[in-house]
Amino acid sequence: MEAIERVCQFLNEAKTYYLATVEGDQPRVRPFGTAIIYNGKLYIQTGKVKAVSKQLAANPKAEICAFHNGTWLRVAGELINDDDRDAKVAMLEKNPNLKRMYSADDDNTQVLYFRNATATFSSFTAEPETVTF
Ligand SMILES: Cc1cc2nc3c(=O)[nH]c(=O)nc-3n(C[C@H](O)[C@H](O)[C@H](O)COP(=O)(O)O)c2cc1C
Repeated sequence: MEAIERVCQFLNEAKTYYLATVEGDQPRVRPFGTAIIYNGKLYIQTGKVKAVSKQLAANPKAEICAFHNGTWLRVAGELINDDDRDAKVAMLEKNPNLKRMYSADDDNTQVLYFRNATATFSSFTAEPETVTF
């Protein structure tokens, strides 16, 4: 399995991860759940009306953290907006419950992909393992 697929699978199995952004000199963090591979990139989803979206527009640097089965994963990088309609459709198809709130053609749905990502798997029992994508 490719590194990026392993990262996405871990996020999906953990179900919830925590997405940190920066607002000026203030860290912001909140729970997220969306993660898919599309066109070889790791995408997440949000709404343009949310503060998190505005923070990422001003500063794309982000880090996510998830914990599952004794292992924690951190992915640090930049989250880049993608207005590609097909990417939004793919996100909604993989997360059908989003369709209650979002559609590919509303002005709110936003997908972003990781650029310059460094992902580290850590546990108390093994050396950290780092992959980049
Ligand atoms: C388990 C869980 C998963 C969530 N997943 C997402 C998600 O993938 N995308 C999203 O935009 N909001 C998601 N949310 C909602 C956000 O955490 C919430 O809208 C948050 O307030 C957004 O951050 P902000 O207020 O800084 O903009 C999720 C909430 C929970 C509890």
